[in-house]
Amino acid sequence: MINTLLPPQFSLGNLAIPHAIREHIFDEGFPMEMIGQLKSQVLADVEKATSLHALEDLRVNALGKKGQLTLLMKDLGQKSPEERRVIGAELNAAKEAITTALDQRKTQLEDAAINTRLASETLDVSLPPHPSPKGKVHPLSYVMDQVIHIFGQMGFVVAEGPDIEEDFYNFTALNIPPEHPARQEQDTFYLPSLPDQQPLVLRTHTSPVQIRTMLNEKPPIRIIALGRTYRSDYDATHTPMFHQIEGLVVDTKTHMGHLKGCLEEFCRLFFEDPSLKLRFRPGYFPFTEPSAEVDIAWKNGNWLEILGCGMVHPNVLRNCEIDPDVYQGFAFGMGIERIAMLKYGIEDLRLFFESDLRWLNHYGFATEVRE
Ligand code: PHE
Repeated sequence: MINTLLPPQFSLGNLAIPHAIREHIFDEGFPMEMIGQLKSQVLADVEKATSLHALEDLRVNALGKKGQLTLLMKDLGQKSPEERRVIGAELNAAKEAITTALDQRKTQLEDAAINTRLASETLDVSLPPHPSPKGKVHPLSYVMDQVIHIFGQMGFVVAEGPDIEEDFYNFTALNIPPEHPARQEQDTFYLPSLPDQQPLVLRTHTSPVQIRTMLNEKPPIRIIALGRTYRSDYDATHTPMFHQIEGLVVDTKTHMGHLKGCLEEFCRLFFEDPSLKLRFRPGYFPFTEPSAEVDIAWKNGNWLEILGCGMVHPNVLRNCEIDPDVYQGFAFGMGIERIAMLKYGIEDLRLFFESDLRWLNHYGFATEVRE
C-alpha cells in the first residue's frame, strides 16, 4: 500500500511534505491536503519559472508519465469508489489548475521572448547605414567660405541684401536710369509690383548691396556681399541663377592702387599662386568711373576674365548722400561659379545646380565629421 502510494522514485521536487502529513499518508492513503499542497507548490513554481525549458520540467514533474500528480492518479485505482470520487475530483481540479497555469505562463514567456527579440532586432530606418556616409560641402559653399576668409583677413565684413530687389537699388541708385541700355543688357527678371510701389526685380547683380550699405552706414566702409543673382540666360556658361561676390571700400583717400592691390592679394591667395599675374583692362560700368575688367594669367598662357571693378562713380556716392569731394571708393564684382570653375576645373556651370550626387561626391569637399 505504502509503496504504491509513494514509490521510491517518487519525487516531490521542491515540495517538502511535513512529517505529520507524511504520517497521515502512510496511515490512511493520501489526504486531500497533500493534493492542495502539491497544487499550490507547482503553481508557485510555474509562476516563478523564467524559461520555457524550466516550465517544461515543471510540467513533466507534475503531469508527465511519472509526474507527481499522474502517480497519485494511478493510485486512485486502489481506492474505494467513494474515495475515488472525492479524491479523483480533487486531483482533476489540481490537474486542470496546473495545466491552465502552465499554458498561461508559457504564453507570457513566449510573448516576453518575442518582445525581447523585436527590441533587439529593431531596424531604425531613419538612421543612416553604418558607417554613416559623410556629407560633402558643395563647391560653391566651399568657395564662398574661402572668399569670406580671405577678405575677412583684409578687414572686410559681410553685408547682405534681398534677392527680390527694388528697381531703385538694383538700377537707379547705381547710376542706371530707366532708359539706360544697361537695363536691357542684364536680361532682368521683372516681378509684378504692387500699386504705388517701386518696380521689383530679381537682383541682376550684388551691386545693390553697395547702395543699401552706403545709405545705412557712414564711411569708412569695407564690405563684401555674397549671394544669388538672376539673369534670364541659359547655356554652358550661364544659368538664370548664379552667385556673385561684391566688394566695396569707401574712405577719404581710396584710390585705384588700393583696388589693384586688394584684388591682386585676393587672387593670389584664392588661386594659391603667389606670383599670379593680373591684367586690368579698361571697362565700362555705369556705377564706376574709371571702370576695369580684370583678367588672370592662366596656366595655358591665356588671359581669363574674372571680374569687373572700378572707382565708385561720384553720382552713386551722391545718391547715397556721401560727398564725393571728401570720400572716394572702389568696388568690384565677381562671379563665384566662375572662380570655382577655374580653381577646380569644372567645365559646365549648369552642373552646380543639378544636385547629382555623383557630381557632388566628386567635387564636394569633405568636412569634419559631426557626431
Ligand atoms: N555688378 C557688375 C556686374 O554684375 C560687376 C561690378 C561690380 C563692376 C562692382 C564694377 C563694380 O557685372
